[in-house]
Order: sequence, then structure tokens, then C-alpha cells
Amino acid sequence: MLEVRNLQSYYGGAHVLRGVSLTIPEGKAVALLGRNGMGKTTLIRSIMGTMPPVVRQGSILYNGEELVGKAPHDIAQRGLGLVPQGRRVFPSLTVQEHLTVASRPPKSHSDTRVNWTLDRIYELFPRLAERKEHRGNQLSGGERQMLAIARALTTNADLLLMDEPSEGLAPIMVQQLKHDFLALKSSGVPIFLVEQNVGLALAVADVVYIIERGQVVYQGQPEELAVNEEIKRKYLGVA
Ligand SMILES: Nc1ncnc2c1ncn2[C@@H]1O[C@H](COP(=O)(O)OP(=O)(O)OP(=O)(O)O)[C@@H](O)[C@H]1O
Ligand SMILES: [Mg+2]
Repeated sequence: MLEVRNLQSYYGGAHVLRGVSLTIPEGKAVALLGRNGMGKTTLIRSIMGTMPPVVRQGSILYNGEELVGKAPHDIAQRGLGLVPQGRRVFPSLTVQEHLTVASRPPKSHSDTRVNWTLDRIYELFPRLAERKEHRGNQLSGGERQMLAIARALTTNADLLLMDEPSEGLAPIMVQQLKHDFLALKSSGVPIFLVEQNVGLALAVADVVYIIERGQVVYQGQPEELAVNEEIKRKYLGVA
């Protein structure tokens, strides 16, 4: 469904993505791991068409259509939903307001996918249902992250890209996220999960990539990476 081929992205003269290729198949969860500053957000921004960076070479095919060179709203309209790094919620809007403001009906030509109505979302995130009248500034970090994900879902995204959703969350909230992602996955939404939390990525993903200084240095099944101590030590700094 999404295919990134030999992507080269720059910030001015700084060549940050140096030939990234990866595939997100229909209905699968793909994780991208990598330490700070390795190019994860740069890849997400390149896919979403937000500049900077500038993509100078390579291709991003979404259901066969080239996304490179398209405007961000055009790309979002094609069904890509982003949960940006550093969950941005509005302090004065309630949970329900966040969700209704972002809501968009599903594209008429696709009849196979889930229509993410408010009811459906509250079913997936019962915690948000309990808090629907709470304002952004009254939510915990974990609840904000859930809201950021729910908001991306209400746009009826066909593919969800999440940039370090577990960042800054307490371990118990990361467990909750894991549970939510597995539920999301079983609803059939493909997920591109960018993470530094190896445990979370391994629990959720069908395929795992590792990025190191703008290049993919590893691709494998989560079960393989789980037992590959050398790769984990070398690229992820985990023992
Ligand atoms: N707006 C920018 N202008 C110039 N350089 C940038 C810009 N944003 C990021 N970079 C550089 O590009 C490289 C990749 O950054 P990126 O934000 O993609 O890393 P990341 O893997 O998302 O890291 P983190 O885990 O800390 O979010 C880094 O060297 C960073 O300093
Ligand atoms: Mg980042």
C-alpha cells in the first residue's frame, strides 16, 4: 500500500535521508526503530509532504500513486493520518470537541474500510468516552496520546503514521498503548509506528526496520530482532 523507494531528503545542504526504502503492506503494522536524530521524523515528514525537509530523489508510492511533490493536504486527503511527535492537543477544547472538529466522512469509493464514527472510537478508547467533557489541559499524558490517535482516526485515515507515541509516557501507559495498538491493528488499520521503545514496537509490529544515520540498516520479523542481541546493542543501545 505504501512503498518508499530510495528516498533522499535534505535540510538545506544536510543530506539526512540517504536512500531509505521500506514497504507498509495492506493491513499490517510496520515499526521503524532508531535512536535520536537518525531520521525517523524526517521520514515521516517526507511521507506527509511537510517541508522541510526537501525530497530530492526517490519515490513514495501510495496505492501506486506518487506522493513526492504533492502538498500535505493533498496527501492527507488521500487517506494518510499522522499522529505527530509530541502529542498536540488544545488545552481548552474538550475531548469530544477535538474529535468532532477533525472528523471527516470516509471517501465514498472505499467501502471496505471501517467508518470511524465517534461511537466506534469511544468503543476502542473507553477511557476517552469517560473523559469526553474533559478539556485538553485536564488530561494525563497517556490520555492526550490516545486523543491524538483518536483524532487521526476520525479523519478516516486508511493508514496511520505515528511518531514516537510512547515518548515521555510512564510504563503503565505504554502498556495501555500496546493494548490499544493491538486493538487498532485487529480492526484492520495499517500502522506505521516510529518508536524508540523496542518492546512496544516488537509487540505490535509485523515487520521491523531500523534506521541509522538516514539509512535502513536492518529489516526483519519482530521475533528475529527480539533475539538478535548484537543488532539491538549496535543500533538501539539496548543490552
Ligand atoms: N528542521 C531541521 N533543520 C535542519 N536539520 C534538521 C531539522 N530537523 C531535523 N534535522 C536533523 O536531521 C537529523 C534527523 O532528525 P530527525 O528529527 O529526523 O530524527 P529522529 O530520528 O526523529 O530523532 P528523535 O528520536 O530525537 O525524534 C538530525 O541530525 C537533526 O539534527
Ligand atoms: Mg523524531
